[in-house]
This record gives sequence, C-alpha cells and structure tokens, in this order.
Amino acid sequence: MSGVDPSHRVLSGMRPTGRLHLGHYHGVLKNWVQLQHEYECFFFVADWHALTTHYQDTRGIDQAITDMVIDWLAAGVNPGSATLFVQSQVVAHAELHLLLSMITPLGWLERVPTYKDQQEKLADKDLTTYGFLGYPLLQSADILLYRAGHVPVGADQVAHVEITREIARRFNHIYGREPDFEELAESACDKMGKKGAKLYRSLRKAYLENGDQEGLQRAQALVKDQQNITLADRERLIGYLEGTGKVILPEPQALLTEAAKMPGLDGQKMSKSYGNTIGLREDPDSVSTKMKRMPTDPARVRLSDPGTPEKCPVWQFHEVYSDQATKDWVRQGCTSAGIGCLECKQPVIDAVIAEQDQIIARAAPYEENPDMVRSILIEGAEKAEDDARQTLNEVRQAMGLSYR
Ligand code: TRP
Ligand code: SF4
Repeated sequence: MSGVDPSHRVLSGMRPTGRLHLGHYHGVLKNWVQLQHEYECFFFVADWHALTTHYQDTRGIDQAITDMVIDWLAAGVNPGSATLFVQSQVVAHAELHLLLSMITPLGWLERVPTYKDQQEKLADKDLTTYGFLGYPLLQSADILLYRAGHVPVGADQVAHVEITREIARRFNHIYGREPDFEELAESACDKMGKKGAKLYRSLRKAYLENGDQEGLQRAQALVKDQQNITLADRERLIGYLEGTGKVILPEPQALLTEAAKMPGLDGQKMSKSYGNTIGLREDPDSVSTKMKRMPTDPARVRLSDPGTPEKCPVWQFHEVYSDQATKDWVRQGCTSAGIGCLECKQPVIDAVIAEQDQIIARAAPYEENPDMVRSILIEGAEKAEDDARQTLNEVRQAMGLSYR
C-alpha cells in the first residue's frame, strides 16, 4: 500500500440522475461536505453504473452529469479539497473490474440482495444482462482502485461494501502470496525487536488458534506502531496475522449515511419516483406552492380541530429547519388549534427558500459557464488516474501481468 493510508481515504459515487433534491442534500451532500475536511475524499459520477439499468437510452447522460455535479458544487463540495471525477474518464475502473471478475464466483453476485430486488422493481426492463449482474463488482473495483478505507453510503448499499470486502480478501489470499511469503513475514517479525516479535507471535497464535479478536486488533496496532520497518514488511505482517498474504487491496468499511430526517412532501421518503420532491435549486414560487399544498395531520379538518405534530409531515420539516422557539410555537399552536396550518408552514417555507438562495447563487457561475464544470472534472480525473495507476501497478505485478 505504498504511501497510501486507507484509513484516511473516503470514496463515494452517485449515478448521474440529473438534478438532485433536498433529500440528497440533507442526507448525502452535507455529509460529503463535512468529510472533505477530515479525509482525502474521492467523489465520482458512476456513469457506467447508470448504463447497467439504462443501456436502452443513453441520451441525456451528459446533461445529467453536468446538472448533478453543479448540485454537488452548489451544496459546498469543494474541488479544492475533494477529487471530483467521472468514472468513465478513468478507464482503470474497467481494467480492475475485469481482473476482479476472474476471481469472483457467480454465486456471490447472484446472492447480492439488490440483484433480485432491482430486477423485480424495474420489471419493465430486461436486467438479465452480464453488466447488471456485475454491478456490485464494478462498485468493488471503484472502491478498491483507490484503496479507500471508508465508503459513505446509504443502508441500501451496505451489501455492496460487504461484497467488496470479500473480493479484497479473496484477491489478497490468492495473489498476496509471495513464494517465500512465510520466511519474509518471519524475518519481518524479527525486525520488530525481541519483545515486539514475541508479543506479535503470541497474539497471532491466539487469533489463529482460538479466534481471539482482541488479540488480532492488538497485533494490528502493534504492527502499525512500528517505526523502523518498511511498508512492504508492514503489509506482510498484517497479512500474516490473518493467514492471508500481503494486503494488496485493503478491505473498506461502510460509513453509514443516516437517512435524511426530512421526508418528501407527502410524508414518505423523498424520492423522484414518488413525485414528492423539492429540488435543490427550485425557484421560490414553486417551493412555496408545493409546500402550501402539502398534506398535514389528517385530524385537522377545520381550523378549530387540534392536531398532533408527530402525525404531520410539516413537523418533520420544522425538525430540520426551525429553532427551538419556532418549534415550541408550532407545538403549542397545533395542539391547541391556535394556529392554522398555512401559518405553521410559513417559517419553513421561508427557511427552505433562504437555504436555496445560497445554493442557487453558488450554482449560478457554473450554470452560465458549464466549461468550468468540465475542467473541474478533467482535473479530477487526472488526479484520480494517478492514484488508480499506482494500485493497478501493484495489482498487475501481484497477478504476474507486468510483462513488458
Ligand atoms: N451504487 C451506488 C448507488 O447507487 C453508486 C456507486 C457506484 C458507489 N460506485 C460506488 C457508491 C462506489 C459508493 C462507492 O448509490
Ligand atoms: Fe402540521 Fe403545523 Fe398543521 Fe400542526 S399546525 S397539523 S404541525 S401544519
């Protein structure tokens, strides 16, 4: 893992669905904005993944990419901190996908829950394709190509991170074995000094013989603390612990993105397919009209009927947008039938419009000049490619494909 520290790397992708909505903003994008300050982040547009389900009609992908990336930028994702790129502009994703396909048992892919789920959900499409079956493996390639330790995803994607871990383990197991691996690992162990070596060996034994997880973690920490051994030796020692070989592709962790607390206009999850969204850059009149039409607690038929905020989607919006004083005013007014629902909605309407104001302003220069977006993505792809190439070199070497 020459020079790369997976625990400081974050990678995530989004299919190019075009303009995003407030659900994306409060769920995913604000999280990305936060992460970009704490980690080395790679955020990319998964356009090849979009093809797995939308191969019939690929027109419009270009526009969808631009629109979505403008939303990222408008939300505060900063190309100076994070690397932003389009998957198909870094062809290394395809090479790693292909190489990994050689060692991936069909059954693993067939058993990923999204495989059958999506085929049922998108029954109008023929998804009995090779590409669709390989969806999670392409995602594994995306992640492993950058040796990212953390992958922020929603709950629906956790299974894909899980299969990525299994693929990485299998890869390391098959190709991480140098012919003289055990001797090299044993001599690396001796380089930790008498005390270190003795501790390492006893922790390793406890883990391998009795499955002692704590022993494993302590031994990993011990190896990480060594200042005087080479990176190659460190990888050997880490791999040797679990009985695998050298760790060429480190296993990532899912960083579960909390579901946005804000529902759609009808109280269900905000989603394009439910038609209940507010766009991230929607004009104020349209925001206002949509919110005024929003259903409220069904018990409040007349103004004189008291309501229960917990039974009202508008309340969820207050939870996201309002301060304590406003929320107290809502609770008091709603349960005593002291305020009307339109009156109750107004502070949220104002808050959403104020939030969008900023976002719309940040999007404006990119909308006027989409070439700015293009050059951010080109620069991002170049940076991504450098990192990808390093991994692929190690992968090719480990697989015996470095013939020149
Ligand atoms: N499958 C993801 C989704 O639909 C998108 C994606 C593709 C992704 N490759 C990825 C997410 C790698 C995280 C990491 O949301
Ligand atoms: Fe919902 Fe507010 Fe109406 Fe109560 S007063 S039902 S919280 S919109």
